Amino acid sequence: MKYSGKFIVLEGPDGSGKTTQIAKIEQYLRQRGADFVSTREPGGVAVAEKIRRVILDVDNAMSGLTECLLYAAARREHLLNKVVPALEQGKIVVCDRYVMSSLSYQGYGRGLGQDVLDINKRAISWNGMEYWPDMNIYLDVTPEVGLGRIHAKQTDREINRLDLEEEDFHRKVREGYLRLIEEYEGQFTRIDASQSEELVFADIKSVLDRLLFAESEQDFS
Ligand SMILES: Nc1ncnc2c1ncn2[C@@H]1O[C@H](COP(=O)(O)OP(=O)(O)OP(=O)(O)O)[C@@H](O)[C@H]1O
Ligand SMILES: [Mg+2]
Repeated sequence: MKYSGKFIVLEGPDGSGKTTQIAKIEQYLRQRGADFVSTREPGGVAVAEKIRRVILDVDNAMSGLTECLLYAAARREHLLNKVVPALEQGKIVVCDRYVMSSLSYQGYGRGLGQDVLDINKRAISWNGMEYWPDMNIYLDVTPEVGLGRIHAKQTDREINRLDLEEEDFHRKVREGYLRLIEEYEGQFTRIDASQSEELVFADIKSVLDRLLFAESEQDFS
């Protein structure tokens, strides 16, 4: 049976502002007196945190598929032990990254394609249903803008081969997201995240108001 809470996920390339905006969302939801849980992937519960350490350890070279399976394993533990209980209690769950991150980074970025979707469908199935978010808020930036923000303190140094590879990977990731938006129409709201933090949040706020508080912006037409 469908839960009574709302599952909202922040998605987007590196440096698009997900973590920055989640802090603003938390502030807003507190102000509205909403009952919510704010969390992030991979991690959020003990087993998933341990898996996170395995994934991120620079000494752990692994195949793309292994990486995908580990992310999916961490996702399932987090989903079953944190997200589902909160949703069943009627809470709002705000999560930094979820399935669409795997589909774009590993499916498109690493070229693993359909395997990533199959593995993730398995990972998010529980109680006879697949736990897809009520909304993916996609913060859209070009790799130039996103990586530019992340490397902002290193603007004096020359761009090396690795930086270029990284940019190519991130270009594929963004293209992946843009295709996913078309494929999963209705599950995404795309926001221009190259705007100022305040303007990005204003866009997010109107999505939240519509989705959570059944409010829409006044129509003056
Ligand atoms: N709208 C914005 N305009 C300019 N700079 C921003 C904006 N939003 C965030 N930043 C800055 O860009 C950097 C990256 O932001 P943030 O960490 O929120 O991105 P992220 O999407 O969580 O990245 P990652 O995927 O790497 O976790 C931070 O230094 C942040 O202060
Ligand atoms: Mg972040």
